[in-house]
Amino acid sequence: MRLLARVSILLASSLSLSATTLNILSNSSVVIIPPTVSNGPTRAEYMSSAHGLDGFKLSNINSTAFGELWFFDAVSDDGRYWVVASFWASPSPSLTMQLRNEKILSVQMVVRVDDDIYSANSVFAEAAQIFTHGKGMNGTWKGTGSSFSGSEDLSTYSINFSSPFEITGSILMEPVAPAHYKCSSDEVGIDTQILPELGWANPIPDAQATVALKVNGTDVKFKGIGYHDLTWSNTPLFRSGTDSVFREYNWGHGRIGPYSIVWLVIAGSDGTNLTSGYVSKDGIILGTPCSDVSVTLRFNPSTEQIQGSSVRMGLGDKGTIHAELEVEKIVINDAGVISGSGRLRGVLGDEGSKHAGVASFTYYNSVH
Ligand SMILES: *[C@@H]1O[C@H](CO)[C@@H](O)[C@H](O)[C@H]1NC(C)=O
Ligand SMILES: *[C@@H]1O[C@H](CO)[C@@H](O)[C@H](O)[C@H]1NC(C)=O
Ligand SMILES: *[C@@H]1O[C@H](CO)[C@@H](O)[C@H](O)[C@H]1NC(C)=O
Ligand SMILES: *[C@@H]1O[C@H](CO)[C@@H](O)[C@H](O)[C@H]1NC(C)=O
Ligand SMILES: *[C@@H]1O[C@H](CO)[C@@H](O)[C@H](O)[C@H]1NC(C)=O
Ligand SMILES: *[C@@H]1O[C@H](CO)[C@@H](O)[C@H](O)[C@H]1NC(C)=O
Repeated sequence: MRLLARVSILLASSLSLSATTLNILSNSSVVIIPPTVSNGPTRAEYMSSAHGLDGFKLSNINSTAFGELWFFDAVSDDGRYWVVASFWASPSPSLTMQLRNEKILSVQMVVRVDDDIYSANSVFAEAAQIFTHGKGMNGTWKGTGSSFSGSEDLSTYSINFSSPFEITGSILMEPVAPAHYKCSSDEVGIDTQILPELGWANPIPDAQATVALKVNGTDVKFKGIGYHDLTWSNTPLFRSGTDSVFREYNWGHGRIGPYSIVWLVIAGSDGTNLTSGYVSKDGIILGTPCSDVSVTLRFNPSTEQIQGSSVRMGLGDKGTIHAELEVEKIVINDAGVISGSGRLRGVLGDEGSKHAGVASFTYYNSVH
């Protein structure tokens, strides 16, 4: 499906590039997202296509649409650092409640250094420029000092922050795991909806991340694992106030030894359930199962705080992967959303010794 209302132009420079490189990923387009909500219906693209994996999936963003969120995170190998960056094109840039902003373009970042937590919120952008080229894209939230840029084969990705953003520097990602959608690798014609009218794509399930930020005058530098996904909808995430389309969800990603793992478990308020898993090794997908996947949560019986999850994914004849998340640091704990990092241990099939690594997770429960 092509969105008719999308401003899409082929650039002369990319035409000459494609003529010389004969690259089948050479399709390019520019979309300018205006700074405020639009009038009229918002249409969304929920079917995957050959290009624009990471692109803008909506025709416009009206005042009741969730809009689109480009999400990035990284956890250091030693677990001391955690960073999350969110690029919003949304009148309601929140996972915990319905907001009603006229202005829709903003960037948020949260950084944890040991037990210290820092955050930055951008000014509203004057416009966002989304340049899609092949599977990659770059996005510039004009006036915020924040942008991200992925090469067209998605082999490198950088997220850059400069003044007036209060945290400056960059997050570089070199992906080590191929992109995926729920229950599928990155293929054409996949239904990307994780709930009715809520699209999700995971261009970078796992990456080598190199983070170099300046936070409140201090250098924050680390290497670790990185991740990037995007979520979009032409309808609201909250029907009213805090009444979310989710009853519960549990998302996480991590790496153990050679395995990159992503899980996404959703109980929708409408009774829809989804359990989606992903495992890759050495740049090859071992499975994107949506059946034979279970994620069991563990809670501290006295505080009722989440302590961890047991993740089990059946990969057919490649065996079953078992991974244990042990929550180490909770950074966000707001209106039912709990986000942070932890230790991940696990094993595939009858491998003798367990692998160890780190993970990032979010757990949401509407009953709080
Ligand atoms: C570019 O996109 C158009 C429209 O989606 C498609 O028909 C064409 O095959 C694409 N070309 C390349 C080189 O990918
Ligand atoms: C936004 O678009 C959706 C989907 O087309 C539509 O249902 C909704 O009524 C629109 N909202 C406004 C305020 O126009
Ligand atoms: C975005 O990508 C295009 C095509 O690769 C490139 O010409 C342009 O410089 C990039 N812009 C940014 C901000 O990275
Ligand atoms: C982003 O940061 C990286 C690493 O510092 C740098 O190589 C790159 O040129 C920066 N890109 C932009 C658009 O500023
Ligand atoms: C930022 O640095 C200043 C001066 O070093 C310090 O007083 C302040 O507490 C720091 N802010 C945070 C959030 O750590
Ligand atoms: C979804 O899961 C819940 C329990 O988590 C269950 O009560 C409900 O019946 C399931 N819905 C469907 C459609 O399977």
